[in-house]
Amino acid sequence: MPEITLHVNGREHRLDVPDRMLLTDALRDRLGLTGTHVGCEHGVCGACTVLMDDRPVRACLTLAVQAEGRRIRTVESVAPSEDALHPVQQAMRDCHGLQCGFCTPGIVMSLVALHERAEGAGTVAEEEIDETLSGHLCRCTGYRNITAAARRALGADTAPCEHAPEGADR
Ligand code: FES
Ligand code: FES
Repeated sequence: MPEITLHVNGREHRLDVPDRMLLTDALRDRLGLTGTHVGCEHGVCGACTVLMDDRPVRACLTLAVQAEGRRIRTVESVAPSEDALHPVQQAMRDCHGLQCGFCTPGIVMSLVALHERAEGAGTVAEEEIDETLSGHLCRCTGYRNITAAARRALGADTAPCEHAPEGADR
């Protein structure tokens, strides 16, 4: 069984893992980072999306051994502090972009990558946001607020959210 070093959310972890262990299982079962969700396990739904060297990857299609030496970030690393949200998380909250929340961590990670690429480059084209969201399946099927949140977080739309919950920042 190979021993590998995983760099996750700024920390190093030495792990003995079977060759065929998936990154999702290493993150969830070995490191207790259950924010990365597992839906289809076939690379279709996007629920398991994490960042590897700043790029979104499907953790259910990635072996843990493939992640050795790479910089992995999960949804647990996104908020800047316990009292603050990342702009993508804040927009999801403000626009009521989550329903049951199962797909939300994967969507957040993809949008965080887009947000980081856009920083300093101004706004992101709506087509790029739509393309990013097209890689995620939401079983609650309410894409309207997710799309509104993404556009707000990425500066493609500065209008107030139409469907914000009572009391949220509009
Ligand atoms: S669980 Fe990985 S894409 Fe669905
Ligand atoms: S919010 Fe329920 S699966 Fe997307």
